[in-house]
Amino acid sequence: MPIDIERREATALVTVNRPEALNALDVAHLEDLHDAVDSLRSDDAVRAIVLTGAGEKAFIAGADIKYMRDLEVLAAREWGALGHRIGTMLETMPKPTIAAVNGFALGGGCELALACDIRLASANAKFGQPEVNLGIIPGWGGTVRLARTTSLGFAKELIFSGRIVGAAEAESRGLVNHVYEPGELLNAALELADGLTAKSPIAMAYAKEATSLALQGDHKEGLETEARLFSMLFASKDQREGMTAFIEKRDADFVGR
Ligand code: CAA
Repeated sequence: MPIDIERREATALVTVNRPEALNALDVAHLEDLHDAVDSLRSDDAVRAIVLTGAGEKAFIAGADIKYMRDLEVLAAREWGALGHRIGTMLETMPKPTIAAVNGFALGGGCELALACDIRLASANAKFGQPEVNLGIIPGWGGTVRLARTTSLGFAKELIFSGRIVGAAEAESRGLVNHVYEPGELLNAALELADGLTAKSPIAMAYAKEATSLALQGDHKEGLETEARLFSMLFASKDQREGMTAFIEKRDADFVGR
Protein backbone atom coordinates (compact mmCIF):
# COMPACT_ATOMS: atom_id res chain seq x y z
CA MET A 1 0.00 0.00 0.00
CA PRO A 2 1.29 3.52 -0.71
CA ILE A 3 0.26 4.56 2.80
CA ASP A 4 0.08 2.14 5.73
CA ILE A 5 -2.41 2.73 8.51
CA GLU A 6 -1.91 0.85 11.76
CA ARG A 7 -4.59 1.16 14.43
CA ARG A 8 -3.18 0.93 17.92
CA GLU A 9 -6.26 1.34 20.09
CA ALA A 10 -7.17 5.03 19.78
CA THR A 11 -3.91 6.04 18.07
CA ALA A 12 -3.52 5.68 14.30
CA LEU A 13 0.02 5.35 12.93
CA VAL A 14 0.18 6.57 9.33
CA THR A 15 3.33 5.61 7.42
CA VAL A 16 4.28 6.91 3.98
CA ASN A 17 5.62 3.77 2.37
CA ARG A 18 7.99 4.54 -0.47
CA PRO A 19 11.44 4.14 1.07
CA GLU A 20 13.12 3.47 -2.29
CA ALA A 21 12.40 7.13 -3.19
CA LEU A 22 12.93 8.43 0.36
CA ASN A 23 9.13 8.58 0.72
CA ALA A 24 8.82 11.32 -1.88
CA LEU A 25 5.14 11.80 -2.65
CA ASP A 26 4.02 10.93 -6.18
CA VAL A 27 0.37 11.00 -7.27
CA ALA A 28 -0.49 7.58 -5.85
CA HIS A 29 1.10 8.35 -2.47
CA LEU A 30 -0.29 11.87 -2.18
CA GLU A 31 -3.83 10.78 -3.10
CA ASP A 32 -3.67 7.83 -0.73
CA LEU A 33 -2.31 10.04 2.04
CA HIS A 34 -5.19 12.44 1.46
CA ASP A 35 -7.74 9.61 1.72
CA ALA A 36 -6.06 8.13 4.80
CA VAL A 37 -6.01 11.44 6.67
CA ASP A 38 -9.57 12.21 5.57
CA SER A 39 -10.93 8.89 6.83
CA LEU A 40 -9.07 9.07 10.16
CA ARG A 41 -10.23 12.65 10.65
CA SER A 42 -13.88 11.63 10.81
CA ASP A 43 -13.38 8.34 12.67
CA ASP A 44 -14.41 8.89 16.30
CA ALA A 45 -12.54 5.77 17.40
CA VAL A 46 -9.27 7.52 16.44
CA ARG A 47 -8.19 10.12 18.95
CA ALA A 48 -4.62 10.88 17.83
CA ILE A 49 -2.58 10.47 14.65
CA VAL A 50 1.15 9.89 14.26
CA LEU A 51 2.60 10.52 10.78
CA THR A 52 5.96 9.03 9.84
CA GLY A 53 7.97 7.63 6.90
CA ALA A 54 9.04 4.07 6.14
CA GLY A 55 12.69 3.12 6.57
CA GLU A 56 15.44 4.80 8.53
CA LYS A 57 16.47 7.52 6.11
CA ALA A 58 13.48 9.70 5.41
CA PHE A 59 10.26 11.10 6.76
CA ILE A 60 9.21 12.53 3.35
CA ALA A 61 11.84 13.90 0.93
CA GLY A 62 9.25 16.18 -0.66
CA ALA A 63 6.90 16.11 -3.57
CA ASP A 64 8.04 13.86 -6.41
CA ILE A 65 10.30 15.96 -8.62
CA LYS A 66 10.18 13.47 -11.48
CA TYR A 67 6.39 13.82 -11.60
CA MET A 68 6.41 17.60 -11.19
CA ARG A 69 8.95 18.36 -13.90
CA ASP A 70 6.43 18.23 -16.74
CA LEU A 71 3.45 19.78 -14.96
CA GLU A 72 1.66 22.69 -16.56
CA VAL A 73 0.21 25.58 -14.62
CA LEU A 74 -3.28 24.19 -14.01
CA ALA A 75 -2.00 20.76 -13.04
CA ALA A 76 0.53 22.38 -10.69
CA ARG A 77 -2.32 24.35 -9.14
CA GLU A 78 -4.25 21.13 -8.47
CA TRP A 79 -1.13 19.40 -7.16
CA GLY A 80 -0.53 22.28 -4.76
CA ALA A 81 -4.19 22.30 -3.72
CA LEU A 82 -4.13 18.57 -2.90
CA GLY A 83 -1.11 19.05 -0.63
CA HIS A 84 -2.84 22.05 0.94
CA ARG A 85 -5.96 20.00 1.65
CA ILE A 86 -3.90 17.40 3.51
CA GLY A 87 -2.08 20.10 5.50
CA THR A 88 -5.33 21.82 6.39
CA MET A 89 -6.89 18.55 7.55
CA LEU A 90 -3.89 17.77 9.77
CA GLU A 91 -3.97 21.28 11.17
CA THR A 92 -7.71 21.58 11.78
CA MET A 93 -9.02 18.09 12.55
CA PRO A 94 -10.37 17.93 16.11
CA LYS A 95 -7.66 15.56 17.36
CA PRO A 96 -3.92 15.91 17.80
CA THR A 97 -1.55 15.14 14.92
CA ILE A 98 2.09 14.32 15.61
CA ALA A 99 4.89 14.13 13.04
CA ALA A 100 7.58 11.58 13.91
CA VAL A 101 10.34 12.91 11.65
CA ASN A 102 12.72 10.00 11.15
CA GLY A 103 15.10 11.46 8.54
CA PHE A 104 14.76 13.82 5.58
CA ALA A 105 11.80 16.20 5.85
CA LEU A 106 12.38 18.32 2.78
CA GLY A 107 10.09 20.50 0.71
CA GLY A 108 6.59 19.07 0.96
CA GLY A 109 7.81 16.72 3.71
CA CYS A 110 8.80 19.62 5.93
CA GLU A 111 5.51 21.31 5.04
CA LEU A 112 3.37 18.34 6.08
CA ALA A 113 5.36 18.03 9.32
CA LEU A 114 4.67 21.74 9.92
CA ALA A 115 0.95 21.13 9.43
CA CYS A 116 0.98 18.66 12.34
CA ASP A 117 0.37 19.97 15.84
CA ILE A 118 3.59 18.58 17.33
CA ARG A 119 6.88 17.53 15.72
CA LEU A 120 9.25 15.00 17.25
CA ALA A 121 12.50 14.24 15.43
CA SER A 122 15.25 11.66 15.40
CA ALA A 123 18.77 12.97 15.88
CA ASN A 124 19.46 12.23 12.18
CA ALA A 125 16.46 14.22 10.91
CA LYS A 126 17.07 16.94 8.35
CA PHE A 127 14.69 19.78 7.58
CA GLY A 128 14.59 22.21 4.70
CA GLN A 129 12.69 23.95 1.95
CA PRO A 130 15.05 23.42 -0.99
CA GLU A 131 12.44 24.31 -3.65
CA VAL A 132 14.40 27.39 -4.71
CA ASN A 133 17.07 25.04 -6.06
CA LEU A 134 14.42 23.57 -8.39
CA GLY A 135 13.23 26.95 -9.61
CA ILE A 136 10.03 26.89 -7.54
CA ILE A 137 8.85 27.89 -4.06
CA PRO A 138 7.23 25.80 -1.30
CA GLY A 139 3.74 24.83 -2.43
CA TRP A 140 2.14 22.93 0.44
CA GLY A 141 2.03 25.67 3.08
CA GLY A 142 5.70 26.15 3.92
CA THR A 143 5.94 29.89 3.33
CA VAL A 144 3.24 30.49 5.92
CA ARG A 145 3.66 27.67 8.43
CA LEU A 146 7.47 27.76 8.67
CA ALA A 147 7.32 31.47 9.47
CA ARG A 148 4.54 31.01 12.01
CA THR A 149 6.24 28.05 13.67
CA THR A 150 9.74 29.54 13.85
CA SER A 151 10.32 33.17 12.91
CA LEU A 152 9.90 35.19 9.75
CA GLY A 153 13.64 35.75 9.44
CA PHE A 154 14.52 32.07 9.87
CA ALA A 155 11.82 31.00 7.42
CA LYS A 156 13.04 33.48 4.83
CA GLU A 157 16.61 32.32 5.31
CA LEU A 158 15.70 28.66 4.76
CA ILE A 159 13.30 29.32 1.88
CA PHE A 160 15.64 31.78 0.09
CA SER A 161 18.78 29.68 0.53
CA GLY A 162 17.44 26.12 0.47
CA ARG A 163 19.73 25.40 3.42
CA ILE A 164 19.08 22.09 5.16
CA VAL A 165 19.26 22.05 8.95
CA GLY A 166 19.82 19.21 11.40
CA ALA A 167 17.61 18.18 14.30
CA ALA A 168 19.51 20.20 16.93
CA GLU A 169 19.18 23.46 15.01
CA ALA A 170 15.55 22.67 14.22
CA GLU A 171 14.90 22.16 17.92
CA SER A 172 16.67 25.40 18.84
CA ARG A 173 14.37 27.26 16.40
CA GLY A 174 11.15 25.70 17.68
CA LEU A 175 10.70 23.71 14.50
CA VAL A 176 10.63 20.50 16.52
CA ASN A 177 9.47 19.93 20.07
CA HIS A 178 11.94 17.19 21.06
CA VAL A 179 14.78 15.15 19.57
CA TYR A 180 15.34 11.42 20.21
CA GLU A 181 17.84 8.76 19.26
CA PRO A 182 16.63 7.17 16.00
CA GLY A 183 15.65 3.89 17.68
CA GLU A 184 13.58 5.72 20.29
CA LEU A 185 11.65 8.18 18.13
CA LEU A 186 8.63 6.10 17.13
CA ASN A 187 8.01 4.80 20.64
CA ALA A 188 8.25 8.33 22.00
CA ALA A 189 5.74 9.58 19.42
CA LEU A 190 3.32 6.71 20.09
CA GLU A 191 3.65 7.16 23.83
CA LEU A 192 2.88 10.86 23.50
CA ALA A 193 -0.10 10.08 21.26
CA ASP A 194 -1.42 7.36 23.58
CA GLY A 195 -1.21 9.80 26.50
CA LEU A 196 -3.26 12.34 24.55
CA THR A 197 -5.91 9.76 23.66
CA ALA A 198 -6.62 9.30 27.36
CA LYS A 199 -7.71 12.94 27.71
CA SER A 200 -11.22 14.18 27.06
CA PRO A 201 -11.63 14.25 23.24
CA ILE A 202 -13.95 17.22 23.47
CA ALA A 203 -11.52 19.21 25.64
CA MET A 204 -8.72 18.19 23.24
CA ALA A 205 -10.70 19.39 20.22
CA TYR A 206 -11.43 22.74 21.85
CA ALA A 207 -7.83 23.10 23.07
CA LYS A 208 -6.63 22.58 19.49
CA GLU A 209 -9.19 24.94 18.01
CA ALA A 210 -8.43 27.73 20.47
CA THR A 211 -4.64 27.33 20.43
CA SER A 212 -4.55 27.21 16.64
CA LEU A 213 -6.00 30.72 16.58
CA ALA A 214 -3.00 32.10 18.49
CA LEU A 215 -1.04 32.92 15.36
CA GLN A 216 -3.97 33.36 13.01
CA GLY A 217 -6.31 36.28 12.66
CA ASP A 218 -7.25 38.71 15.31
CA HIS A 219 -6.00 38.67 18.94
CA LYS A 220 -9.34 39.73 20.38
CA GLU A 221 -11.22 37.15 18.33
CA GLY A 222 -8.81 34.48 19.62
CA LEU A 223 -9.49 35.41 23.22
CA GLU A 224 -13.24 35.50 22.60
CA THR A 225 -13.11 32.04 21.03
CA GLU A 226 -11.18 30.73 24.03
CA ALA A 227 -13.76 32.20 26.41
CA ARG A 228 -16.62 30.66 24.41
CA LEU A 229 -15.06 27.19 24.16
CA PHE A 230 -13.96 27.24 27.81
CA SER A 231 -17.49 27.93 29.01
CA MET A 232 -19.09 25.46 26.57
CA LEU A 233 -17.07 22.65 28.14
CA PHE A 234 -19.08 23.15 31.32
CA ALA A 235 -22.02 21.61 29.44
CA SER A 236 -20.04 18.39 28.94
CA LYS A 237 -20.02 15.14 30.91
CA ASP A 238 -16.22 15.17 30.60
CA GLN A 239 -15.87 18.41 32.59
CA ARG A 240 -17.95 16.94 35.41
CA GLU A 241 -16.05 13.64 35.23
CA GLY A 242 -12.59 15.28 35.12
CA MET A 243 -13.24 17.44 38.14
CA THR A 244 -15.03 14.69 40.06
CA ALA A 245 -12.13 12.31 39.40
CA PHE A 246 -9.71 14.91 40.76
CA ILE A 247 -11.76 15.36 43.92
CA GLU A 248 -12.18 11.59 44.36
CA LYS A 249 -8.43 11.04 43.73
CA ARG A 250 -8.92 8.62 40.81
CA ASP A 251 -8.24 8.57 37.05
CA ALA A 252 -10.88 10.21 34.90
CA ASP A 253 -12.86 8.11 32.44
CA PHE A 254 -13.73 10.47 29.60
CA VAL A 255 -16.52 9.75 27.13
CA GLY A 256 -16.10 12.61 24.67
CA ARG A 257 -19.39 14.34 25.44
N1 CAA B 1 11.32 13.34 -5.78
C1 CAA B 1 11.56 12.25 -6.52
N2 CAA B 1 12.51 11.34 -6.18
C2 CAA B 1 13.22 11.58 -5.08
C3 CAA B 1 13.04 12.70 -4.27
C4 CAA B 1 12.01 13.61 -4.67
N3 CAA B 1 11.69 14.68 -3.94
N4 CAA B 1 13.90 12.67 -3.25
C5 CAA B 1 14.62 11.54 -3.40
N5 CAA B 1 14.23 10.88 -4.49
C6 CAA B 1 14.74 9.62 -5.05
C7 CAA B 1 16.02 9.84 -5.82
O1 CAA B 1 15.74 10.28 -7.13
C8 CAA B 1 16.62 8.46 -5.76
O2 CAA B 1 15.95 7.65 -6.72
P1 CAA B 1 16.80 6.79 -7.80
O3 CAA B 1 17.56 5.82 -6.97
O4 CAA B 1 15.74 6.18 -8.65
O5 CAA B 1 17.67 7.77 -8.50
C9 CAA B 1 16.20 7.96 -4.38
O6 CAA B 1 15.12 8.77 -3.98
C10 CAA B 1 17.32 8.11 -3.36
O7 CAA B 1 17.73 9.46 -3.37
P2 CAA B 1 19.26 9.92 -3.51
O8 CAA B 1 20.02 8.92 -4.28
O9 CAA B 1 19.25 11.32 -4.02
O10 CAA B 1 19.72 9.86 -1.99
P3 CAA B 1 20.84 10.73 -1.28
O11 CAA B 1 21.00 10.14 0.08
O12 CAA B 1 22.04 10.85 -2.15
O13 CAA B 1 20.23 12.21 -1.14
C11 CAA B 1 18.49 13.80 -0.60
C12 CAA B 1 19.11 12.42 -0.32
C13 CAA B 1 19.46 14.90 -0.18
C14 CAA B 1 17.20 13.88 0.19
C15 CAA B 1 18.19 13.92 -2.12
O14 CAA B 1 17.47 12.75 -2.55
C16 CAA B 1 17.38 15.12 -2.48
O15 CAA B 1 17.90 16.21 -2.53
N6 CAA B 1 16.07 14.93 -2.76
C17 CAA B 1 15.21 15.99 -3.18
C18 CAA B 1 14.76 16.85 -2.02
C19 CAA B 1 13.91 18.00 -2.49
O16 CAA B 1 14.34 18.85 -3.25
N7 CAA B 1 12.64 18.06 -2.02
C20 CAA B 1 11.73 19.09 -2.36
C21 CAA B 1 10.88 18.68 -3.54
S1 CAA B 1 9.91 20.01 -4.15
C22 CAA B 1 8.52 20.07 -3.18
O17 CAA B 1 8.38 19.31 -2.24
C23 CAA B 1 7.53 21.11 -3.58
C24 CAA B 1 6.44 21.38 -2.61
O18 CAA B 1 6.50 22.27 -1.82
C25 CAA B 1 5.22 20.62 -2.66
